Amino acid sequence: MRILMVCLGNICRSPLAEGILKHKARQQGLDWFVDSAGTGAWHVGELPDPRSIDVARRFGIDITDQRARQIRPDDFERFDLIFAMDRQNLRHMGQMANRSEHRQKIRLLLDVLYPGQEQEVPDPYYGGPEGFEQVFRLVEAACDRILVEYGRF
Ligand code: 4NP
Repeated sequence: MRILMVCLGNICRSPLAEGILKHKARQQGLDWFVDSAGTGAWHVGELPDPRSIDVARRFGIDITDQRARQIRPDDFERFDLIFAMDRQNLRHMGQMANRSEHRQKIRLLLDVLYPGQEQEVPDPYYGGPEGFEQVFRLVEAACDRILVEYGRF
């Protein structure tokens, strides 16, 4: 399974999603390729936000090997599933993906937990550290669900 996690800047939410899903897939012995990207280019080449690095580390996950990148058209070919953190990311990718087989790969991350409700992982960039912990918990619950849906138990 090849899974791409997508947010706006690729420094706060999607790096956590990448790190958490990689960690859990590895723990289960799954040979999954997990990556992340942003719809925007402002932070390309940067490390994850220090607040994301901190919350991941507190839960035993190191995400300091990651560097931000922007989503590219060939991501819609290379990945099996592409998860958007919020509706803006989803809309942006819907505009980039012009073939129906590509559009079918795109899903809101929290749709795995709350199908059809269009729930979003809130953007924590302008808030305090508690927002990053909330993001971690939401994303972790979604990753657990992804492993049930797409992994083997
Ligand atoms: P992310 O958070 O999309 O979760 O990485 C943001 C990071 C940077 C900005 C916005 C959101 N920004 O406006 O620079």
